[in-house]
Amino acid sequence: MKYFVANWKARKNLEEAYDWFEAFSARVNSNHNLITLLRDGKIKIIVCPPYPLIFPLKKKFEEKLPISFGAQDLSQFEGGSYTGEVPAKSLEGLVSYVIVGHSERRRYLNETNEMITHKIEQAQKINIEPILCVRSHEDLPAKNVNIISYEPVQAIGTGKNEDLKDILEMKESLHVPQSTIFFYGGSVNKTTVLNYLKTDEINGFLIGTASNDPLDFYNIVSISQS
Ligand code: PGA
Repeated sequence: MKYFVANWKARKNLEEAYDWFEAFSARVNSNHNLITLLRDGKIKIIVCPPYPLIFPLKKKFEEKLPISFGAQDLSQFEGGSYTGEVPAKSLEGLVSYVIVGHSERRRYLNETNEMITHKIEQAQKINIEPILCVRSHEDLPAKNVNIISYEPVQAIGTGKNEDLKDILEMKESLHVPQSTIFFYGGSVNKTTVLNYLKTDEINGFLIGTASNDPLDFYNIVSISQS
């Protein structure tokens, strides 16, 4: 199974999101081999839009496309008087995955490992699968997760993707258990992904910039069929 996560970040309004899905689903649905791989669970696509877009997109496209939805974050709090926060229970039934600890949140929102540990607990309590992003072993919180995404800051949004050798070295130094699903994120596009697809050590990709355009994202996913 290879995972492809589209992290739209703080981009797109509803109209742009609908356009993205129309274009993406037209491509995917005309590729019968890809549809079979998606239905057989050999490839998994997870789209992570900004919170308010998740519900309308799910409603409109869920039946038309065999993909999953994810959120880009969730609250560390269970719920209550925390204005602006989105607790796990508000995401229940909407998403199957949630990104936690992305380096942009650690950097701009001062997220700490302690906060991230709470977020993981909140997600796991209601069976939303956290995708934990780490830059190094120092970002590993005191909580086990099934999915870890290695995201070197120098590779995010820069076009300077990390060498496969360096990714595998980091995986080793993180002591990722064999059963953990391991992703890489950082300037993954239809060219850079080719090298990474050669190894079974990388189970999936977190894709930012190249997921903004439906055709770019489709190209990355469809390359993995061959
Ligand atoms: P990028 O972002 O694909 O634009 O480098 C990746 C990420 O933020 O995980």
